[in-house]
Amino acid sequence: MKLLVLNGPNLNLLGQREPGIYGSESLDFCLQHLRDHFATRTDRNGQPIVIEDYQSNCEGALIDRLQQAWREGVDGIVFNVGAYTHTSIALHDAIKSIAPVPVVEVHISNVHQREAFRHTSMIAPACKGVICGFGLDSYRLAVEALIN
Ligand code: DQA
Repeated sequence: MKLLVLNGPNLNLLGQREPGIYGSESLDFCLQHLRDHFATRTDRNGQPIVIEDYQSNCEGALIDRLQQAWREGVDGIVFNVGAYTHTSIALHDAIKSIAPVPVVEVHISNVHQREAFRHTSMIAPACKGVICGFGLDSYRLAVEALIN
């Protein structure tokens, strides 16, 4: 089972950026921890869980990576869209365009406890589901959901 963990703008600065909100661990740590966690897990067909990752600060690059994942036959995508969550019709359309690949929207912080502009997601209606507010564990929960 091949999954893609996709991260949008400013998530390359995890660990340095607003640590009171996003914690003190880096994106590399997060991804390594995720791979270690699922290293011995298999999907319902007994196949290993392979986790690829990609981060970009650019909306177009994220769209290109979604389309690439679809062409390559990825089984599911965990997507922290960062601030583009609240603005991007283009990413909404890109997620719709790669149906039926399931995409889970994730957020490290509970966006609903924060500024009003973070309460709206342009992405959620195109996604299979949304997980937010569990810190870096949000990514693990999203992978669990895709495996299940
Ligand atoms: C975020 C929440 C977004 O509102 C914010 O713009 C981010 C990170 C999160 O993971 O909590 O960049 O997606």
